[in-house]
Amino acid sequence: MSDLADQRGMETAVYQPAEDSKLLADVAVESVDGSDRVLDVGTGSGYVAGRIASATAASVVASDVNPHACRQARDNAREETIPLDVVRGDCTRPFDAETFDAVTFNPPYLPRDEAAERDDWMERALTGGETGREVIESFLDDVARVLTSDGVVFLLVSTLTDIEAVAGYAADRSLAAETAREESFPFERLAVLRITEEH
Ligand SMILES: C[S@@+](CC[C@H](N)C(=O)[O-])C[C@H]1O[C@@H](n2cnc3c(N)ncnc32)[C@H](O)[C@@H]1O
Repeated sequence: MSDLADQRGMETAVYQPAEDSKLLADVAVESVDGSDRVLDVGTGSGYVAGRIASATAASVVASDVNPHACRQARDNAREETIPLDVVRGDCTRPFDAETFDAVTFNPPYLPRDEAAERDDWMERALTGGETGREVIESFLDDVARVLTSDGVVFLLVSTLTDIEAVAGYAADRSLAAETAREESFPFERLAVLRITEEH
């Protein structure tokens, strides 16, 4: 691929920050402590990770399954001189156990619309399978492993994803979910769930 084609691919293939990104970043910035180690899963452009790293002294790692997103997050951080390590991988699976005090994730959460279905990185940024919860559930299956004992997860969810179903799935894995903040929009209500391990 030429450099230009590669750059065009990056522009169209990476989710750019929106209301959901901002809501999650606002909650995370207020909650993260300067001594924390933080992981931002599904970082996209690196917006949430960058907000946390620049507003707090926390050390932040960002990850995404999309290689274009990893490159864009790295480039944006470099441009803004924000210290950020970026790792390509599936949810929390590349990371060692008990590594992070806080994990943030603004996941793909829309139920698949078969009529409009595409097979590209933007589809993977937006859509979480038939229920909208496939990536969220995969994330919840492993996230407790990478948390320190009093670690916390901030997960962005939408009424389009069925917030109760997400909280129920978490509870089945001994994870307690409470709403940290919510905001209503014309077609959905967004919420940031604060999730901790039940000890
Ligand atoms: C809704 S976008 C959010 C992007 C960014 N965090 C923000 O708030 O602007 C979801 C992101 O999750 C990434 N993603 C999807 N499936 C993933 C997986 N299994 N593991 C890691 N990242 C994933 C997508 O590539 C996309 O960048």
